[in-house]
Amino acid sequence: MRLKEKISRTGDIPVMEPQRQFYFMELAKQYVEKLSEEKGRPLTFCVNTFGCQMNARDSEKLCGILENIGYVETDSENADFVIYNTCTVRENANNKVYGRLGYLSGFKKRNPDMLIALCGCMMQEETVVEKLKQSYRYVDLIFGTHNIYKFAELIVQCLESDSMVIDIWKDTDQIVEDLPVDRKYSFKSGVNIMFGCNNFCSYCIVPYVRGRERSRKPQDIIREIEKLVADGVVEVMLLGQNVNSYGKNLEEPMSFAKLLQEVEKIEGLERIRFMTSHPKDLSDELIEVMKQSKKICRHLHLPLQSGSSRILQQMNRHYDKEQYLALVQKLRAAIPDIALTTDIIVGFPGETEEDFLETMDVVEKVRYDSAFTFIYSKRTGTPAATMPDQVPEDIIKDRFDRLLARVQQISAEKAGALTGQICDVLIEEKNGQDESLVTGRLSNNSVVHVKGDESLIGKIVPVHLQECKGFYYLGEVVNES
Ligand code: SAH
Ligand code: SF4
Ligand code: F3S
Repeated sequence: MRLKEKISRTGDIPVMEPQRQFYFMELAKQYVEKLSEEKGRPLTFCVNTFGCQMNARDSEKLCGILENIGYVETDSENADFVIYNTCTVRENANNKVYGRLGYLSGFKKRNPDMLIALCGCMMQEETVVEKLKQSYRYVDLIFGTHNIYKFAELIVQCLESDSMVIDIWKDTDQIVEDLPVDRKYSFKSGVNIMFGCNNFCSYCIVPYVRGRERSRKPQDIIREIEKLVADGVVEVMLLGQNVNSYGKNLEEPMSFAKLLQEVEKIEGLERIRFMTSHPKDLSDELIEVMKQSKKICRHLHLPLQSGSSRILQQMNRHYDKEQYLALVQKLRAAIPDIALTTDIIVGFPGETEEDFLETMDVVEKVRYDSAFTFIYSKRTGTPAATMPDQVPEDIIKDRFDRLLARVQQISAEKAGALTGQICDVLIEEKNGQDESLVTGRLSNNSVVHVKGDESLIGKIVPVHLQECKGFYYLGEVVNES
């Protein structure tokens, strides 16, 4: 056992969630208190997050529980409890974790009571867990994406055991509500509206590690946002791997557009964002709702992945180049000031120079405000991993460089379109470089540096966009009279 003595339990362990977790939080609290008495100082924790917004939100849940049981947050990984919330969408995401684990073992040698935990998407892969069991014996706790709500219970299990605790589920249909959350920002928050993914794009591992699509009930989402707003939140980001298919599996099905209309009604909420939209499911109803809305931000992330209809079919994306371009046209006709961003993969198996030029052609035609470009990464277990004609590295690198150069050039040309105008900016943080500035975002997600101090953080203020410097604006708050 990692502790000198076990605390005796009082009462029955609740069977229902989240009550069961609150029971374990109480128990964990007692352990943490005892340990910090022994050490004569508070115990510290550090959560390191890899991957997407979904993981970032999950990490806020981890932090919420760790704080609830008495740990104090620190930036340093030289802490009493370190947890990595991992991503496995591309191979290099995995490598980063192994690299950093080696570095953590150094801290643990000096602080043998240190607990090291791993969770997130990478842990849903059997080969990863095998490797950890073999070569990373100093890891204390491993769990996956489906049972993250059990974190408090797992911490207790870990403290009461003397070997590696591993709890990975293959899938779940459970959604546990109302656990503590510690938000990174006081004024904005991610809100999960669904979990998992059913799309099985042939290159993508997410459906295997996040399980089948499950939507939260609209009442639960609205209640959470109302609570957030009461707590000072003005902007929410609705999160899902494919928000456009929200609500299909609910007892009373509801479209994403309808959900947005409900969220719009929440008084005090100022801005609504969402991620990610799959082009195949983006409805006219959604475009109409966005167009009418006062709160939905003028930004849409619409992953393209490839501009070649042949490759898109191989990718199992269910749209072709023409349909994608028509969708973009429809969006821009309805909402002319909408900013469009995208994800593009270079070097999918079988991609020829002609296919790649089709991607370049879409980039020329759409002129994205910004684009994330990725080199195809082979994920074992996905259909694309065993497809013939994997593209040689040097060819991929050459295409990637050409794409990136063009994407950046277009972004630079597009930035600055609003120079001279007065636009609302949500001020988010102090400027890292210049103390006289704070930094915020426009509705279209562009970054703006504004003269001012911390008192502006969390506020939406009208800003005169005086100048555009590359990828951001410089501006001044306009005093309304
Ligand atoms: N659900 C979102 C994407 C989640 S993953 C969507 O469908 O748009 C984020 C991005 O990672 C994807 O859009 C894709 O561009 C990229 N990606 C996913 N799997 C990849 C792989 N095997 N290699 C390279 N990039 C990949
Ligand atoms: Fe992956 Fe496709 Fe699902 Fe996005 S929609 S998470 S790319 S399988
Ligand atoms: Fe990565 Fe999992 Fe997100 S694999 S991209 S953290 S859903």
